[in-house]
Amino acid sequence: MILYNNQFIEREDAWIDIEDRGYQFGDGVYEVIRVYHGQCFAMDEHLDRLKRSAREIKLEWPVSRKELEENIRQLIQKNQLNNGIVYLQITRGPAKRTHQFPMQAKSVLTAYTSEMDRPHNNLQNGINTILADDIRWLRCDIKSLNLLGNVLAKEEAHHQQCYEAILHRQDIVTEGSSSNVFIVRNGKLYTHPANHFILNGITRRYVIRYAKEAKIEVIEKAVPIEEMMQADEVFITSTTSEISPVVKVDHNVIGEGRPGAVTTLLQKKFEEEIS
Ligand code: PDD
Repeated sequence: MILYNNQFIEREDAWIDIEDRGYQFGDGVYEVIRVYHGQCFAMDEHLDRLKRSAREIKLEWPVSRKELEENIRQLIQKNQLNNGIVYLQITRGPAKRTHQFPMQAKSVLTAYTSEMDRPHNNLQNGINTILADDIRWLRCDIKSLNLLGNVLAKEEAHHQQCYEAILHRQDIVTEGSSSNVFIVRNGKLYTHPANHFILNGITRRYVIRYAKEAKIEVIEKAVPIEEMMQADEVFITSTTSEISPVVKVDHNVIGEGRPGAVTTLLQKKFEEEIS
């Protein structure tokens, strides 16, 4: 079953108009929520961010928050999802094609579930990454459907047998194509500030909290590529990647080429949270 506004229907019965603005303009917002043991992880934070993204693009919220929360829970139950994700998006809906907002458009909300294993191999052994130019627009804080810049970067990483592309604007590291980036140097944790250059990841926020609890100093500042390359540890965070150690950026080996002590400590805290 999938969720269509506030109805549960079979996926085969779902119908999207060819002039839906999400389809034509990428005019919409989305979230990916992790499900562990049949329960949503950080649902509140995801729905708060979805609401903010919708507000930033002046998108009408089609159903009440309470109703949506209940519907997401029901969707997980109906699909008997144990471990996986809920994908949720809202578009500005169908209307005759004009760039400006149409007079009459009714937002369309869709959500579905998908089974997904935890990335055990990446968590234990780390991932290889590439550097890629951050060619995206300047409102990366909005989780919008416009993902071409992200898609092209991820495709290039994939092409080079790497898991993620670490994006940079000139010499500054921003974030991953679908993740946030953290750097450990001399026991301190660095990550890009949550401004319009990055998406303020939910996993990012948990990691910052864990670090502070462990008395690790967290510095939210722009880090130059050079500093990342010489870091003791680098890792990425996201709903699906969790806390994945980065062992290589392009051909440069990070630290000792295996998951470092700070990364492992943060992974342990995350593990406790979700088990
Ligand atoms: N991506 N930055 C970008 C550009 C992202 O697309 C994501 C998540 C993150 C991490 O955010 P969070 O910790 O809230 O998942 C950072 C999702 C998973 C996706 O598009 O599939």
